[in-house]
Amino acid sequence: MGHNGKIKRIAINTGGGDAPGLNAVIRAVVVSALHKGYEVVGIRDGYNGLMKPEEYPDGGLVTLTRGKVRGITHLGGTILGTTNKGNPARYPTMGPDGKMFEKDRTDDLMKEFHEHKIDALVALGGDGSLGIANILAKKGLRVIGVPKTIDNDLDKTVITFGFDTAVSFSTECLDRLHSTASAHQRVMVVEVMGRYAGWIALNSGISGNADAILIPEIPYDIKKVAEALHKLPKRGKHYAIVMVAEGAKPVGGEVSVVSKELGRADKLGGAGERVARELEPLVGKECRTVVLGHLLRGGSPTTFDRLISLRFGAAAVRALDEGKSGVMVALDPPTVRYVPLDEVTSRMKTVPPACDTIVTGRDLGISFGD
Ligand code: F6P
Repeated sequence: MGHNGKIKRIAINTGGGDAPGLNAVIRAVVVSALHKGYEVVGIRDGYNGLMKPEEYPDGGLVTLTRGKVRGITHLGGTILGTTNKGNPARYPTMGPDGKMFEKDRTDDLMKEFHEHKIDALVALGGDGSLGIANILAKKGLRVIGVPKTIDNDLDKTVITFGFDTAVSFSTECLDRLHSTASAHQRVMVVEVMGRYAGWIALNSGISGNADAILIPEIPYDIKKVAEALHKLPKRGKHYAIVMVAEGAKPVGGEVSVVSKELGRADKLGGAGERVARELEPLVGKECRTVVLGHLLRGGSPTTFDRLISLRFGAAAVRALDEGKSGVMVALDPPTVRYVPLDEVTSRMKTVPPACDTIVTGRDLGISFGD
């Protein structure tokens, strides 16, 4: 920290699943921070660069210069790397009995920030990463959060970057699936990401003319989905597209989990295949599954995502410059504003079942399985 309590050295990191636009945020943070006279370092792989520096040839921290961030605005992924393992607040640790348990190591992490003379952190992440950022802010580090997730499930911001890119790609995939589904008179079940919130399934399902959309917020009855598909031939349609969010679950049933691991969220998978398997005998048509999964996270951010990423990155540095901490940059059109991290991490932004987009879907004859 410089004299008068002014910050000198800002760190930036990216945590959780990647999202198109991360690199654009990194560039905006670095360029605007350098412009204002700060130094910027990047922490590799979430907090791993600080938690286990011995694993990195460069010690886990990289000095970010203008040259390091040149030409990265349009690139997917993150030049800093990311991880959704090893949450410092729930760090997988071996106990004296040889059993693994989750340990809070955020005090150790605070010491690392201190030792590396890092005065402030710009944390790019979703609910998990912003929760960690909030803990660090409460322990005295100056922290600004930047909302990231293709799922768009973060509260208090109209949108997160990466979402528009994911929805655009998913819609394009649906456009491509109509012709093959029609040619074979099949039911194509398309599974997309969306752990707690069905925004991707909903927005791309409506834009790409799906016949049914199953989201976590509206538990489905497979018989209702079948009933809806049975009506299609009467309208001259002999195929169907069923959109399924990975977190969709049947009424009274559970989310489809592949595996559970310490220190990270459950790995989801199989929601689409479950729907296809149960639907096939009910509709008497071949049901095939396409999982878009991580394809939704790749590729170049759309112009919309690039612009909000650049706006968020520059706004994060302005926030630090104005002495703010413990807040997240949020889009509140036509402006960006700052909201306390406490408010963001206390609830998720899920799809309200009576929202206009759902009503629109129903008006267009789309089934939500209820
Ligand atoms: O949080 C975003 C997300 O895309 C979720 O929808 C999904 O469950 C998760 O990331 C999967 O992440 P990974 O496969 O990288 O563990």
